[in-house]
Amino acid sequence: MNRFDGVKVLLTGAASGIGRATALRLTAEGAAVFGVDVSEEGLAATAAAVTGPGRLVTGVADVTDEAAVVAATDRAAAALGGIDVLINVAGVHRATPIATLSVADLQHLFSVNLVGTALFCREALRYLPDGSGVIVNVASLSATQGNPYMTAYSASKGAVLAFSLSLAAELTARRIRVVPVSPGTVDTPLTRRPDVVPQGVDLSYFNRIRAPFGSAEPEQIASVIAFAASRDASYLTGAELRVDGGAHI
Ligand SMILES: NC(=O)c1ccc[n+]([C@@H]2O[C@H](COP(=O)([O-])OP(=O)(O)OC[C@H]3O[C@@H](n4cnc5c(N)ncnc54)[C@H](O)[C@@H]3O)[C@@H](O)[C@H]2O)c1
Repeated sequence: MNRFDGVKVLLTGAASGIGRATALRLTAEGAAVFGVDVSEEGLAATAAAVTGPGRLVTGVADVTDEAAVVAATDRAAAALGGIDVLINVAGVHRATPIATLSVADLQHLFSVNLVGTALFCREALRYLPDGSGVIVNVASLSATQGNPYMTAYSASKGAVLAFSLSLAAELTARRIRVVPVSPGTVDTPLTRRPDVVPQGVDLSYFNRIRAPFGSAEPEQIASVIAFAASRDASYLTGAELRVDGGAHI
């Protein structure tokens, strides 16, 4: 008996990093997962790594495209025979000193991180069952800790956290759980991008986000996402799970 046998999961950001690790973790525990991402190539690589006993079906969609989110949610429900769990992992990061912060940066970060998450919540709620449905939204350490050059990213993740807490309150009537999960620094393509640190800035500022436990592997976040999504967490809702290696200590 696997923990996710018979559980149908809609997962965004499944093509890379934490999302890929989550797809592999959940399918290893028996889940049927519909993985969404903008990267067709990345989704194919995730699918190739799945060994079961669960299964992964994939669909390309941009989380900022409302019509695409509606269609992807319907496709997921049709492919899996329903949706029990929604996990929003898709996200983007861009570090920018305040002097060069642009409206385009702000709009891009909010559009993917907040609007994409909100749209998938709204659409998945057409399918999530009262009494047992679960939403897990990936926020960030940056939602509750100030970090240099991350004003826009932090604000977008703070918005994901606040959105999730209010959604949890609204969904108590349906007994649907909402759990924001906030990773610290995780070793993924997102943190390896050359523009994750702007050119010519004071790197010593980054000592602030160095966690006592160092960087996490994506699997160390996926295991907590899996817990939050599972029946093991049936009394957990509206509470942020910080998985940051002691960065807040
Ligand atoms: N890596 C970290 O240190 C860290 C820390 C805290 C929070 N997070 C959050 O975790 C989540 C996953 O990040 P990751 O580190 O695995 O990064 P990643 O870059 O490896 O994965 C992000 C995925 O989101 C997808 N994506 C981006 N924009 C999209 C869009 N418009 N529509 C659909 N898919 C889109 C990308 O294609 C990619 O597959 C993000 O929300 C990120 O903000 C990451």
